[in-house]
Amino acid sequence: MPTLSDLAVRHTKLSEADIEWLHTLVSDWQLLADLSFADLILWAPLPGTQRRTVGGESVDEPEGWVAIAQMRPTTGPTVYHDDIVGSMVHRGQRELIDTAWSERRICREGDPDWSTGVPVREETIPVRHAEGHFLGVIQRSTNLSSARTPSRLELTYLQSASDLAQMVAEGRFPFSGEPPILVRSPRVGDGLLRLDRAGRVTYASPNALSAYRRLGLHADLVGAELGRLTATLCYSDEPINEDLMIVASGRAAKETEVESGGTIVQLRAIPLIVGGGRIGALVLLRDVTELRRRERELMTKDATIREIHHRVKNNLQTVAALLRLQARRLRVPEGREALEEAVRRVGSIAIVHETLSHAPEEFVDFDDIADRVIAMAGEVSAPEAGVTPRRTGTFGIMPSLIATPLAMALTELLQNALQHGRPKRLEVVVDAQHFEHRPDRRERLTVIVRDDGRGLPEDFDLDNSTSLGLQIVRTLVEGELSGKLSIEPRDGGGTEVTLSIPLPAA
Ligand SMILES: Nc1ncnc2c1ncn2[C@@H]1O[C@H](COP(=O)(O)OP(=O)(O)OP(=O)(O)O)[C@@H](O)[C@H]1O
Ligand SMILES: [Mg+2]
Repeated sequence: MPTLSDLAVRHTKLSEADIEWLHTLVSDWQLLADLSFADLILWAPLPGTQRRTVGGESVDEPEGWVAIAQMRPTTGPTVYHDDIVGSMVHRGQRELIDTAWSERRICREGDPDWSTGVPVREETIPVRHAEGHFLGVIQRSTNLSSARTPSRLELTYLQSASDLAQMVAEGRFPFSGEPPILVRSPRVGDGLLRLDRAGRVTYASPNALSAYRRLGLHADLVGAELGRLTATLCYSDEPINEDLMIVASGRAAKETEVESGGTIVQLRAIPLIVGGGRIGALVLLRDVTELRRRERELMTKDATIREIHHRVKNNLQTVAALLRLQARRLRVPEGREALEEAVRRVGSIAIVHETLSHAPEEFVDFDDIADRVIAMAGEVSAPEAGVTPRRTGTFGIMPSLIATPLAMALTELLQNALQHGRPKRLEVVVDAQHFEHRPDRRERLTVIVRDDGRGLPEDFDLDNSTSLGLQIVRTLVEGELSGKLSIEPRDGGGTEVTLSIPLPAA
C-alpha cells in the first residue's frame, strides 16, 4: 500500500514542508476522528490548470482529488470498511470537497448520503498550513445508523471536534512546535477533560474522573481549576514540576506525567484556539501506572544482567591474574607456556563479558571485541616478532551466545598463526565477511585467519590432531556455533583457516 508521502509526491505538487505538515496532522488526527465519532479521509489536490481569485487570493482549481490518508473512529462505527487511500475523484464528483477548497470554509450542508446503505453525514474541512496556504481537504463521514440521543459526553465530544476542525481550517492544528511523542499519547477514550479559558473543568469523562480519584481526589472535578488541583494532589517536597502547571491549566500543547499515591497519570493538553483567541483546552489523560511499573521492572532487569556480566568479567580477570602469578614461578618452560596460554583463553572470554556489561541488550558489536582480541594476541604471544595482526571486513552486531565461543575460537587461531608461522611469518590477517546462504537464505559469517608463515607440517591432519588448541576451535565452531572449519595451505605460502557459521535470523 502506498504511503502518504508516496502518493503526495507522485500525484500532487505539495512541497516537502507541506507533506511534513500533513504527516504531523495524520499522526494526531485520531483525536479528531474519535471526538467526531466519524471516519476521516484526507484528500490532496491533483494539480489543475484553472485559477480563480477568492478574496484577493489566487486559488488553483484542482483537476480532482487523491485520498492520501484515512482514519476510522475508535468511538463509533465506521462508514468505510474498505481502504480508500489511493483512490481519486474528479472535480465535480464530490461537491463538498470542491467547495471546502474553493471557498476556504468548513462545509456541512446537505442531507445524509444513503449510497453505502447506511445514512452518512458528510462534512469537509479545508486543511491550512500555519503559513496560510491550503494543502487539502478532510472529509469527515459520520455513520448515523447508530446515533442515539446525545448525552453530555457526546455533546462535549462533538463541540470539541468542531473546535478542532475549525483549528485545522485556521492552520492552528496540528501543533507544529510540539515535540514528537514517544510513548503512545492518551486517546479520547482513555479520559477526557474540557477546560474553559480560565483553566476550570467544564466536563470530565467517567474515565478521567476515575483517574483523578486514583490520584487521591475526593471532591468534585467539574468546576475545579485543574492546574491548582493537580498540583495540590501531587504535592511533594520536590519543587513543582513546571510542565504540570502548564499542561494541567491547558495553556500549551504539551505532555507530562503526574504521580500521586502510587498512581501515575499521563496528561496531554490541547489548547483550543479558535478565531484568534484561546477558548479553552482539552486535556486527555491516561492511567499509565501498570505500564510504568513494567518498564521499571524491565529496566532493573537489564541493569542486573549488565552487572552480572561485569562481575563475571572481574572474576575471570582474577583467575587470569592468579594463573599469571603461577606461571611466573614455574621453572619448566612447557608448564609456563601452558599457563600463559590459559591466561589468554580466559582473557578473551573476559573481553566478551566486559563488552556485554556495557551493552544495553544481549547484543554486542563484535568488531569491537575482535579488535581487542586481535590486539591482545599480538601483545601476548609474540611481542618480539613485531607482528600486529589486522582485521579486514566486519563482523557486525552479534548475540552474546555467538560472541563468547567466537572470541575464543579467534584467540586460538590467532595464537597458532603467530606461533607456528615462525620464523617466516610477516603478516596475519583476520577477514570477516557476510554471505547469504543459498538454500535456506540464512546469513552466514565467514572468518578467515590467514598468515604467510611457514605453513602446516607435512603430516598435518585436522581430524587426528590431538593438541588442544584446534580441538577447542573445532568443538566451538562445529558444536556450539553449528558451523564449518577448514585449514588449508595458503597460495603463496602460509596457512589459511576458514570458519563459516550461520547467523540467527535478524
Ligand atoms: N597457522 C599455522 N601455521 C602453521 N602450522 C599450524 C598453524 N595452525 C596450526 N598449525 C599446526 O597444527 C598443530 C595443531 O595446532 P593446535 O592449536 O591444535 O595445537 P598447538 O598450537 O600446537 O598447541 P595448543 O594446544 O597450545 O594450541 C600445530 O602444532 C601446528 O603444527
Ligand atoms: Mg594452538
